[in-house]
Amino acid sequence: MQQTMQHKTLLIYALQGSIMDINGKLIVVTGASSGIGAEVSRLLAARGAHVLLLARTRDKLVTVAGKIQVGGGQASVYPVDLSNLEATADVASQISQTHGTPDVIINNAGAGRWLFTEDTAPQEAVEMMAVPYFAAFAMTRAFLPDMLKRDSGFIVNITSPAAFIAWPGATSYVVARAAMRSFSDALRADLGGTGIRVGLVVPGLVNSPYFEHNPGALGKVPRISRLFRTLTPQQAAQAILRCIQHDRRQVIVPLEMYLVAVLHRWFPRPVEWLVNITGARRPGG
Ligand SMILES: NC(=O)c1ccc[n+]([C@@H]2O[C@H](COP(=O)([O-])OP(=O)(O)OC[C@H]3O[C@@H](n4cnc5c(N)ncnc54)[C@H](OP(=O)(O)O)[C@@H]3O)[C@@H](O)[C@H]2O)c1
Repeated sequence: MQQTMQHKTLLIYALQGSIMDINGKLIVVTGASSGIGAEVSRLLAARGAHVLLLARTRDKLVTVAGKIQVGGGQASVYPVDLSNLEATADVASQISQTHGTPDVIINNAGAGRWLFTEDTAPQEAVEMMAVPYFAAFAMTRAFLPDMLKRDSGFIVNITSPAAFIAWPGATSYVVARAAMRSFSDALRADLGGTGIRVGLVVPGLVNSPYFEHNPGALGKVPRISRLFRTLTPQQAAQAILRCIQHDRRQVIVPLEMYLVAVLHRWFPRPVEWLVNITGARRPGG
């Protein structure tokens, strides 16, 4: 019975092409203290990776690492505020000296308020770019020279459907998310002909603590998204795993969200109209 299962799995892998073996890989996960980042860290550690957990809140990182270690996995904790470029460079250098060059970087950390343009102070617009985008840039840049020397590595950026279709009431969030998408495209172009791969993972709505951490955001999710499945952090983590294992340039989940992205490419106006009329309105608007 078990042998048949193994044969089936091997057949599926053969049909899907080469897969990366996660076992023994050194993987940096930013935003690992909560939600999707914590879940993907558990998933990767359970497959034999040594996960390096980065976020601001030490206690939460220690809890995630503790659960991984109790299950026999390997996890190390690096508390850092990734909106601080110097601190980001320092933590990357500490990681290089202690563990060597990561095989995979998952740029997942992200936070920020969803506000209309006129409600966003210019300084807040600057801060919204700090994490995710500048943090992802700085983290990737820190390890890239050594990855290039080794000629291997996988960089995964996490973004939101906002990177494809803007919605009202979240200007700086939408721009920061689009930056993650463009960063992935630019990196892929830069790294063409090298052994380093770049993937973009785009989960739709995920029932993670994100909406507790960013009050007001949930009320601004366009109502059209109620037609789509809400993902669990575990499902979002599975999508990241799939991206890495199967060397995917882009994974959009759930399927409904992928279909909307395709539809938007061909029929931008009707899709944007639907998102807009079901999106947030100004008070009295
Ligand atoms: N939830 C959704 O519906 C959804 C959908 C699509 C994409 N995403 C994206 O997926 C990523 C993960 O979100 P999530 O849903 O798992 O939300 P979450 O539970 O709020 O997790 C966000 C993570 O980012 C970390 N973080 C935030 N600011 C940071 C900073 N300045 N420095 C270091 N770490 C920082 C947080 O840790 P600390 O607070 O401890 O620093 C936390 O670990 C985010 O980029 C989010 O935008 C979420």
